[in-house]
Amino acid sequence: MRTIRTVKEMQSWSRRQAADGRSVGFVPTMGALHQGHLDLVRAAKVRDDAVVASIFVNPTQFGPNEDFDAYPRTFDQDCALLAELDVDVVFNPTVDEMYPTGGSRLTWVDVDDLGQHWCGAARPGHFRGVTTVVTKLFNAVLPDRAYFGEKDFQQLAIIRRMARELLMELEIVAVPIARADDGLALSSRNAYLSESARAEAPGIYRALQQVQQAFRDGERSVKALLAILTGCLENISDAR
Ligand code: PAJ
Repeated sequence: MRTIRTVKEMQSWSRRQAADGRSVGFVPTMGALHQGHLDLVRAAKVRDDAVVASIFVNPTQFGPNEDFDAYPRTFDQDCALLAELDVDVVFNPTVDEMYPTGGSRLTWVDVDDLGQHWCGAARPGHFRGVTTVVTKLFNAVLPDRAYFGEKDFQQLAIIRRMARELLMELEIVAVPIARADDGLALSSRNAYLSESARAEAPGIYRALQQVQQAFRDGERSVKALLAILTGCLENISDAR
């Protein structure tokens, strides 16, 4: 497995793959890899001839009071996991390489509307940072297919929309959520949870499943479905 740190070298490696008739699959990540990320790599290995995973903690998608400095960085361990899955290249650029003009930025890729709701409402500017860096990563890696997890469903929807509207010549592939045995979606940030918060967290998934079940059983009243959800959430700590 090769580690590439510059955009130029990454592009010329990918161009060689294309010249040799090999498809390039791309898995963008911020590192601190777990089985969820590795599921994306496995999906890429099935479909593509060559697989690139990027590890880049992207500063522009973190708000001023968010965890950019504290975000877990486990590069050596990540590389060992990727090598086991026979990944061809780890693309690990520096911030200067990805943002050559430093803090003075005139060019953003921004998907209107979709990024303003839900997660976007709580994290202003977050999705603009994601779409900007993902565009740059695509321009560096030149993939035929890029793999994203359904865990970050809003991010996936925004990236699909961006790729379609900007006529990007690649396929976006969605990969199902990988969960811990107790149902909690795997996430690098689960490491921030205290023991009691970690124990309560799967309750959110269970609550959503109850709502799903009620819907499947025919319940169509939003009010009733919301009442089931809030009822389950209020009972999380009691149920433990
Ligand atoms: P990161 O949080 O490292 O996630 C990288 C990819 O792994 C994303 O597509 C995410 O949806 C997927 N993923 C994470 N946990 C998962 C799980 N439990 N099951 C399935 N897929 C999972 O998302 C980002 O990084 C960044 O925003 C990035 C796209 C790399 C841009 O900086």
